[in-house]
Amino acid sequence: MAVLVIGDAPTAAIEAAGLRIHPCRPGADDPLPATLAGIDALILSPGTTLAALPLVGPALAAEVPVLALGEGARLLTEAAGTDGTGGGTADPLLGGGSAPHGFRVGASAWGLPVPDEADCELLRRFAELVAGRAETTATRTFFTPRAAAWEERFAYQTPAYEAAVARMRLRPGQRALDLGCGSGRALPALRALVGATGTVIGVDVTHAMLTAAARAAAGPGAAAARRLRAAPAVRSAVHGIFAAGLLDHLPHPDTALREWARVTAPGGELLLFHPSGRAERAARHGRAVSPDDPLAEPNLRPALEAAGWHVATYEDAPSHFLTRATR
Ligand SMILES: C[S@@+](CC[C@H](N)C(=O)[O-])C[C@H]1O[C@@H](n2cnc3c(N)ncnc32)[C@H](O)[C@@H]1O
Repeated sequence: MAVLVIGDAPTAAIEAAGLRIHPCRPGADDPLPATLAGIDALILSPGTTLAALPLVGPALAAEVPVLALGEGARLLTEAAGTDGTGGGTADPLLGGGSAPHGFRVGASAWGLPVPDEADCELLRRFAELVAGRAETTATRTFFTPRAAAWEERFAYQTPAYEAAVARMRLRPGQRALDLGCGSGRALPALRALVGATGTVIGVDVTHAMLTAAARAAAGPGAAAARRLRAAPAVRSAVHGIFAAGLLDHLPHPDTALREWARVTAPGGELLLFHPSGRAERAARHGRAVSPDDPLAEPNLRPALEAAGWHVATYEDAPSHFLTRATR
């Protein structure tokens, strides 16, 4: 895990928490990285200059944690185009009240105009927050810059998504989730299955993907778009879950399958999909098919059964991967 530190901020507490510092000192021979790939957080020190701006906007968009001190805090509000708000008692960083001048911008950026308020305890809390979000941050920094073009880039695959969704036995009036919905490519087909009286909810950790999905869901899918962030966490709440290109990217697929079983009603179903088979995908990425792949049949079947699913179909064809399981 790496924290990009622009300028000379105190970093001992960050390093003590096991995070690596990626230094970037103006004047020294440390160029600003071109992208946020591999960066888990950003610290803008009091001496931060406008040169850092090209990274601050993308960090805010991808919800990469940012801690901005002194002049860095001013730069943060400039990049955000808004003043921050007070942290509030529940704020994970400012909640203790140790930084009375501190403010938050969005969900993941904090400004401390009085740099002395960034004491060891506050930096330790920031490091803890960064470490706890590292998986999600990596996902967001990867998908955020791709979100706006996702729908158009993969439009040719839409018929394959429609055919996959059609394999689900959803009925009008039922509730369905599209987990890791991305730009919402499956939402219209899901919406068509459950009809006007049903509900489709797309869920994604990448805010920019939800923005793209909200656009794509205009018209018949508008109800889904409005409710994108409101995933039901209630036991047996949904009748079907569609998840394309998600399970093998999750750090703990077994936990996810159990949680998905928990929210699915008895008789409901799960459809795992990818618009290419495992071998084709591995070859495209220049690697061999791994026996550890969670989607490999000897891994996936027992994982699904242990989580409370019954495997009805397992297909790993050149043109698609599809597994249908019932609760
Ligand atoms: C490969 S894309 C697939 C998007 C979409 N399902 C499609 O097929 O076009 C994976 C998506 O999963 C989202 N994602 C990854 N981990 C997630 C998680 N833990 N919870 C929700 N969404 C997640 C990513 O943000 C990304 O949009």
